[in-house]
Amino acid sequence: MTDSVAAIYNREDYPSMSHPTGHPSIMAASAIFGGLRTSHVPTSRILEIGCASGHHILPIAAAFPDASLTAVDLSNHAIEKAKSIAQSAKITNVQFLCADIKNWRPSAHQYDYIIAHGFFSWVDDEAKSALLDICQHALTPNGVAMISYNTQPGWALRQPLREMTNALRHMPACKNSSILALDLIESAMEGTDTDYGKYLISLIKDAKAKGEQQLKFDDLGPINDPCYFSQFVQWCQAAGLKYVSESDIALSNPAMLPEGAKSLLPNLRNDPLLQQQLADFFTGRTFRTSLICRADANLWQPTWEEVAEYSIELLMPIPATGNPITDRIAEVIHQQQPDCVPMRALLADIQTCDPEQAVTVILQLAQLGILRLRSIPYRRLQSMPEHPRLSLLNEHYLKAGLSIVDALHNPCKIAPSDRKVLLNCNGINSFDDIMRQCAEEKQVQSAHALLQFMNDRGLLC
Ligand SMILES: C[S@@+](CC[C@H](N)C(=O)[O-])C[C@H]1O[C@@H](n2cnc3c(N)ncnc32)[C@H](O)[C@@H]1O
Repeated sequence: MTDSVAAIYNREDYPSMSHPTGHPSIMAASAIFGGLRTSHVPTSRILEIGCASGHHILPIAAAFPDASLTAVDLSNHAIEKAKSIAQSAKITNVQFLCADIKNWRPSAHQYDYIIAHGFFSWVDDEAKSALLDICQHALTPNGVAMISYNTQPGWALRQPLREMTNALRHMPACKNSSILALDLIESAMEGTDTDYGKYLISLIKDAKAKGEQQLKFDDLGPINDPCYFSQFVQWCQAAGLKYVSESDIALSNPAMLPEGAKSLLPNLRNDPLLQQQLADFFTGRTFRTSLICRADANLWQPTWEEVAEYSIELLMPIPATGNPITDRIAEVIHQQQPDCVPMRALLADIQTCDPEQAVTVILQLAQLGILRLRSIPYRRLQSMPEHPRLSLLNEHYLKAGLSIVDALHNPCKIAPSDRKVLLNCNGINSFDDIMRQCAEEKQVQSAHALLQFMNDRGLLC
């Protein structure tokens, strides 16, 4: 452990969040694209490495009370905070451990899912190799780990910006602020009309949008060590692991590539790893959420019936195509919005199509990022609860001014005006009481829409 990494996380609160691609329901569904059939999520054993104050793992624990979860972080104050939030939200199936993973190993073969989000690129090589060793040692034979990391060559220009910002923020004019340092670089670049200059300015804007607190740990953290996908795969192989697929399937889709690259990639069909690496070169990809498993895990080509066991989340409207199967799938899925529909139910609804062809179309839509597969369906409550309230966990996050987490594990930032309305959703006030209170403030319409939105996203009980 470089002292600088331990020092910053022991000194300051990391603004942790929920990350859908690190949710076992998505990991399980995305793993089938690489031919790995993982365990049933609701009763599985799940480990998170680098859990910070638990904003990612606690909603998973609350959603799956029969699962058994462990979460590890070296920051004592983050772990104490996570434990206290778990206690106030009455979540008892997650064990939080304060440990440096360089000196910590769980017992062998006991985790079906391992999650390490925001860890690999932000720690030294010893901690990277400890993480891979834990995955090899602790995954069950069909277990899967999701490791996120920054990738080259996408980071090639971000790194000089990181060095420059870190150097400039120590100037008196920047008062140790990264945002002021970025402002300074941006104004120095004013009037540039080179491609390089325009790209640098777009990177500065992206960096500034993250805000001071996030930048301090992420782009400008003490370690930020992007790697090539092929390097990552080699490290995994050396540790007795192998690559399965991406948790975010759409981002490894060859359809996103320039036309010339698309014609090149099919020639590499027999070398999917090289195909992936080339795709990163062509797209300048900066981030991956890779799924890996033990080298001895059994990978197979799933049948359409196996794929049909998963559920479908719509990420964006399906455009009309003129293809009768796609258009019929679109019609049925759009009708069921915002539910995450079991594929079997959908196939029953679209009886006119051949189910195998329908599954092929669904997989193509998932690879285009229009749909996402999940292993667990989600159905919203059919009507508004009479006395709406948030879960204890979300109530805690709301009161603490943090983002709340919806039923699909998406973080939702709540505007201060909405926060006031939601604090009235305490399970004692009826829906009508809440609307009456809002009427006094002439906010009935927006409050009504807010509660409808909350109910649609599974945030009310
Ligand atoms: C960038 S934060 C990511 C937090 C969270 N997973 C997320 O993505 O929002 C990295 C976390 O890893 C923890 N960490 C860093 N090195 C560690 C180590 N060697 N052992 C255990 N935890 C470590 C830090 O304390 C910090 O909470």
